[in-house]
Amino acid sequence: MKLAPSIYTADFLNLGEQVRAVEAAGVDWMHLDVMDGVFVPNLTFGPAICKAIASATALPCEAHLMIADADRYLDVYQAAGMKRLIVHAEACPHLYRTLAQIKDLDMQTGVALNPLTPLGALEDALPLLDLVLLMTVEPGFGGQAFIPESHARIRRMRRMLDAIGSSAELEIDGGVNAHNIAVCATAGASMAVVGSSVYSSQFGVAEGVRALRAATQASASR
Ligand code: DX5
Ligand code: ZN
Repeated sequence: MKLAPSIYTADFLNLGEQVRAVEAAGVDWMHLDVMDGVFVPNLTFGPAICKAIASATALPCEAHLMIADADRYLDVYQAAGMKRLIVHAEACPHLYRTLAQIKDLDMQTGVALNPLTPLGALEDALPLLDLVLLMTVEPGFGGQAFIPESHARIRRMRRMLDAIGSSAELEIDGGVNAHNIAVCATAGASMAVVGSSVYSSQFGVAEGVRALRAATQASASR
């Protein structure tokens, strides 16, 4: 299970140190939650912060664009150093063109679905995707509880990807912690965004990451 810490849940007064801490702890990607206050009821940061974070780490960065008009900004996030853009199917009426533009900008393509958006919305797009992101909370905030109905969605999306022989990542996002990550891995998730379970861990970042790794390794060995 690859881990992608969500910097949105980190200490904003020490972003550089927080990035270095997860990199040292051994994670796979950085997950940058861009929110515009329109598509979601929260406003976080934009390309300048994304660029600063990308410059502070050797880890690849993915921008999770929870914004109403992603098409306007694709080149801006490429210029900020993003290796992957994740757009929301609910906010991209011309998804084929959006994905083509992301590929033309030499980035990986990801599409996110909110917790009750039918998986079928992505069925025809799957061959074009490097990553599917299943939201396991309603987007907009960190620290929310994992939506338990997500397990069935993960299993169904895993079957959809396997049915076409896709090598796309199946990433989950929201409320993932050491207590529920193993079940999500067993259900077919290959990557997890982790925010509060790393950055709000009472035991610190390194221990937060270690606990997540231990939980997934324990399930893998069963
Ligand atoms: C929510 C974001 C998530 C969130 C994860 O809209 O997309 O990435 O920050 O934080 P936790 O892991 O605390 O739910
Ligand atoms: Zn996210």
